[in-house]
Amino acid sequence: MKTTRRDFLRVTSLGLTLPFIPAIHAGESNAEWRFGIIPDTQWKTNMDAPFYGTAIHIIDAINAEMIRQKVDFVLEVGDLVEAAFAEAFQTRAQHNQTLREAGIKFYPLRGNHDSRNRITPVRCDIAAAQYRAAFPNLPGTRGAGGSSPDLPNAEGMTYSFTHKNGKFLLLDTFSLIDDGSQDGKAYKISDYQSWIDAELSKDDHQFALVFAHKDLLGQNHKDNVFSDDKTNQDSFPETQNTFIASLQKHGVKNFICGHDHMYHRSRIKSPDGKSEVQQIICGSAAHKFYLPEPPFLARETSLVKELNRVGFLIVHVNGKELRIDYHSAEPFGQEKFSPKWEIRDSFKDSFNDAG
Ligand SMILES: [Fe+2]
Repeated sequence: MKTTRRDFLRVTSLGLTLPFIPAIHAGESNAEWRFGIIPDTQWKTNMDAPFYGTAIHIIDAINAEMIRQKVDFVLEVGDLVEAAFAEAFQTRAQHNQTLREAGIKFYPLRGNHDSRNRITPVRCDIAAAQYRAAFPNLPGTRGAGGSSPDLPNAEGMTYSFTHKNGKFLLLDTFSLIDDGSQDGKAYKISDYQSWIDAELSKDDHQFALVFAHKDLLGQNHKDNVFSDDKTNQDSFPETQNTFIASLQKHGVKNFICGHDHMYHRSRIKSPDGKSEVQQIICGSAAHKFYLPEPPFLARETSLVKELNRVGFLIVHVNGKELRIDYHSAEPFGQEKFSPKWEIRDSFKDSFNDAG
């Protein structure tokens, strides 16, 4: 559902839980390092130049802020483009040129829009090949370091890498194998679980974060990272219990995702109630925004949300402490974007040695 200006006014008038945080944090340490996280960047259904279905003007503006804040790398949580085709992925990749010139790496993850093209249908393995061509040499591919699960076609699509004292796991849950079915075969979280446990068990990091495009529990979308079933958010309960227990066991405090085109931070318990993780739906950098829609499950505790603004995250790592800042701005017009970024949520997590 696409929202309107009137929706925005109506929602904000409800007084949602949203603290205003001063944009400047005092006492930044030299020891601190930072990385950025961009949410969905698809742009309308226009498949033509210059957009090719990716929000190039928003991407450019966010990248400028990433460079200004001297991040080490930028990660995107999927839905880079509106529809999977070669020019779309190439255009998205070309708009990382300023990052490349600043020596900042880009780590993408696919979303549902990146794995299919409803206008000009394409086989899922061809769509994946087009994506790989635009984003080559990702961790998990031959000679690139990092790790991918030992599953056909998973290399460089689901992957982990380490940077300084952190470890990052990016999980692709979209079609990768042409099995003759209309949508092809996608791996499930349960297919990845032994690799997730192995990666998080390694003694190569002090903290870890796990990313996927879809949510554990969406505010708007009721399909989730475990299932496309929109009628049952508790689908595959054992998979959910095992996954969230694994995150908790290994000290992963935050699961970061996109798909819902809003900012929402919440605490989520596993279906069995035995484990818990914080979920961050990291905003929208796209042309569309969604509104929360019931049902909402009792095992989720909503903490902070913001709707209808363009945003992104910067994670500050300082010794044993993470500070995650959510920045956002008014979306302004259609194809022009001159943001005045404000930090609209900021929270800290101390972490114990993960592993
Ligand atoms: Fe999505």
